[in-house]
Amino acid sequence: MRLVSGIQPSGQLTLGNYLGAIKQFINLQDELKDTEFFIFIADLHSITVPQDKTKLRQNIRSLAAIYLACGLDPKKVNLFVQSEVIEHNQLGYVMETTAYVPELERMTQYKDKKQKQTAGIRTALLTYPALMAADILLYDADIVPVGDDQKQHLELTRDLALRFNAQHGDTFIVPNPYIPKVGGKIMSLTDPTKKMSKSDENPKSVIYLLDDLNAVKNKIKSAVTDSDTTICYDQKNKPGISNLLTIYSLVTDVPIIQIETLYEGKTYQVFKEDLATKVVDYLRPIQERYQALLKSEALDDVLDQGRDNARNIAYKKIQKVYKRLGLNRRK
Ligand code: TYM
Repeated sequence: MRLVSGIQPSGQLTLGNYLGAIKQFINLQDELKDTEFFIFIADLHSITVPQDKTKLRQNIRSLAAIYLACGLDPKKVNLFVQSEVIEHNQLGYVMETTAYVPELERMTQYKDKKQKQTAGIRTALLTYPALMAADILLYDADIVPVGDDQKQHLELTRDLALRFNAQHGDTFIVPNPYIPKVGGKIMSLTDPTKKMSKSDENPKSVIYLLDDLNAVKNKIKSAVTDSDTTICYDQKNKPGISNLLTIYSLVTDVPIIQIETLYEGKTYQVFKEDLATKVVDYLRPIQERYQALLKSEALDDVLDQGRDNARNIAYKKIQKVYKRLGLNRRK
């Protein structure tokens, strides 16, 4: 079995990225015994919109340190930078020859980003899901842990794998998304009907993993909730408190139903204060490990080794794909 997933190094990582994705990687690395893990920094994806090169370089390193600080074990996981394994680009192009334009135009993330962007839309923003499909199919991944917002891209990846297999013979494993039942979509703290997003303009909406811990406390205490007083999970009518219950449950590993009982008759204020303490206690050791890792040479060794292991597999796969397409001069 193989597991593949990636995160873009654009901006600061959020608690949503952690709870929706990284936490699953950590849980699965312990649970799944006979599985090879390929976790990467999706730097090619981040240049689909303009980036500052100094910041991007820092963010790539920072994301590697965050992965490890959160508990990713480099003995079990191949951790690497996407742009260092050129086969991603090679298969990405093959996937562009497999995908139809309307299929890509239908992607909701593309439609959203296109709307928000004032400057010219780059071609790669549209073809992005073809590269993402390549990231996954290159390693014959069986399982792809992601948050809710990547579901549509995963469905497209499956379609592309099936189409290629049907046209050229069995080549790719058709991957399965792995979306957590709780935490697949962490919401904004100021507007709980919207996803918590790296690119949110209001810093109060987002808890960043590397946020100042006092700021984290204040953000949670001022999170938008409703005018009711009962602490219970009701996604539709009480999205704010439901989001906070989700976060509470994931950082403490206590089921939501038990948290509701624990806070019966208590105020939102008490609940938010407790949650603020729990989140801060959770983030503190991650931030400490992060600071130590960022400066260490070990980080580069891990990324070098991860790249070499990934390339070994990716190289063989792209040869096979090229052969299927007739792109091999010598048989
Ligand atoms: P990205 O960088 O936007 O997000 C990384 C991961 O975090 C999840 N996520 C969330 N989960 C819960 N609540 C939220 N508010 C939240 N915000 C983000 C995302 O679902 C994702 O799992 N295209 C991908 C990166 C990628 C990839 C891949 C993933 C490139 N190639 C191959 C898997 C396999 C992206 O932009 O994720």
